[in-house]
Amino acid sequence: MGVEHDNIHIRLLLFCTILGCLATTPAMAALKKYQFDVQVKTVSRLCHAKPIVTVNGMFPGPTIYVREGDRLQINVTNYAQYNMSVHWHGLKQYRNGWADGPAYITQCPVQTGQSYTYDFNVTGQRGTLWWHAHISWLRATVYGAIVILPQQGTPYPFPQPDFEFELVLGEWWNTDVEEDVKQGNKLGLPPKTSDAHTINGKPGPLFPCSEKHTNAIEVEQGKTYLLRIVNAALNDELFFAIDGHKMTVVEIDAVYTKPFSTETILIAPGQTTNVLVRANQLPGRYFMAARPFMDAPISIDNKTAAAILQYKGIPNFVLPTLPQLPSLNNTAYALSYNAKLRSLNSKQFPAAVPRKVDRRLFYTIGLGVNPCEDCLNGTQMAASLNNITFVMPKIGLLQAHYYNLKGVFKMDFPDRPPTVFNYTGAPLTANLKTSVSGQPRLSKIAFNSTVELVLQDTNLLSVESHPFHLHGYNFFVVGSGIGNFDPVKDPAKYNLVDPPERNTVGVPTGGWTAIRFRADNPGVWFMHCHLELHTGWGLKMAFVVENGPDKDHSIRPPPKDLPPC
Ligand code: C2O
Repeated sequence: MGVEHDNIHIRLLLFCTILGCLATTPAMAALKKYQFDVQVKTVSRLCHAKPIVTVNGMFPGPTIYVREGDRLQINVTNYAQYNMSVHWHGLKQYRNGWADGPAYITQCPVQTGQSYTYDFNVTGQRGTLWWHAHISWLRATVYGAIVILPQQGTPYPFPQPDFEFELVLGEWWNTDVEEDVKQGNKLGLPPKTSDAHTINGKPGPLFPCSEKHTNAIEVEQGKTYLLRIVNAALNDELFFAIDGHKMTVVEIDAVYTKPFSTETILIAPGQTTNVLVRANQLPGRYFMAARPFMDAPISIDNKTAAAILQYKGIPNFVLPTLPQLPSLNNTAYALSYNAKLRSLNSKQFPAAVPRKVDRRLFYTIGLGVNPCEDCLNGTQMAASLNNITFVMPKIGLLQAHYYNLKGVFKMDFPDRPPTVFNYTGAPLTANLKTSVSGQPRLSKIAFNSTVELVLQDTNLLSVESHPFHLHGYNFFVVGSGIGNFDPVKDPAKYNLVDPPERNTVGVPTGGWTAIRFRADNPGVWFMHCHLELHTGWGLKMAFVVENGPDKDHSIRPPPKDLPPC
């Protein structure tokens, strides 16, 4: 049992050496296979033991290591009592939505006792991504990192690190989250906030019963480390810092960035950030800490998760100190941090930003209260895009689209909100006629067209920051601002040269974000707020990207073992 104490992970990944040897060998795509057994295991944190859903009994789940160009086959066998689907967050799944994973969007869930093999190629991406359950709130415990190494012979476009570590940030509840969510839905209210934040599944010594639940990574003075940081939290954007050490950001969402040095990073649920850290301080023990950023009047779990950066040879009784993190509501820090993110945009890794736009979309984000017949109070919380609260279908939308099944969804999601109003003006308590009934409404996008989507936060009920994730694509974040988007003035300020390219972007509290992408990946692609609370309230929609001119630019036929509904 004592083994868990201040777990020191030492991993030797000597790329330079390997790359050096293999630099002249042409890159060979390999087939990598993983077995994911979804099973319940009792785990204890904060002095509470409870059964949780895991993959292979691990929490967090196993890291997937793959090289750009490889093919992955991950067999998911479900031994848990919940239906399950797993999403490979940020993997583009070209023409292959069948392997994307969001339940009832691209597949029906894998039922208890059943299996499904996610079979996909990792093409044109390298960096850190992650995987998570994509049904209900099961991702609270079912998640892990994905490390995509560059092709053999291709070095990183930054100084080669001596070692690498994954740091997956999460949230922990002492209670059964699935039960809490059920209860919350009955009441029409949010379930209670988490009891702790975690780093690699452990909350650290600022929590009770932490002895066994602190992570430490061992470093050697003078060496450089690549930290692959994932925010797997359900509902909290997080600040992360290491006491006494600066970080150099080199990659976000598996896209290289122009490196910049920072004391604190900001990372929203769904996002990943790779940083280089040099162990250049006095040998000692230094806290790495994560705590939320929240600049709206919303109650959240504001506790600090901590892990330890431990210099070799320093004993465990040396007390670390905490890094200074920006305060909970430090909007200025958040905005200035995000403004520093830029695509690397090198010759080898160009930023292919669409310059002309074929299709302009403007979506308002709204929170509200809807009538609810079976809710205890007669009302329930709801969320909407362009006043539409997404209704979950009973069968996978991708199947319905592929087989042309009628009556499953409508293709009439509006390109703009029904009314123009002062979106971020004085608190707007009224609901704007949120529609919840009927079929899910989707938006059709022509193959290979260029799309600009402006996501506009509103003050309906309350402003709040929303990390939006698009499946099947990366997009460029060409602009962002506070207040209402101005279609005349704001586009003039867009960055069309080296904007950050990512798969999840925070729409600032009471502000807007403009993204652009080329719709070259046919399929049905989910887009949603990555705060599980809001996804559950309906803050989601899906695009149907049409097939291209020939078979090679059309959706692949479905795999034989696609789960039935
Ligand atoms: Cu990481 Cu649809 O989610």
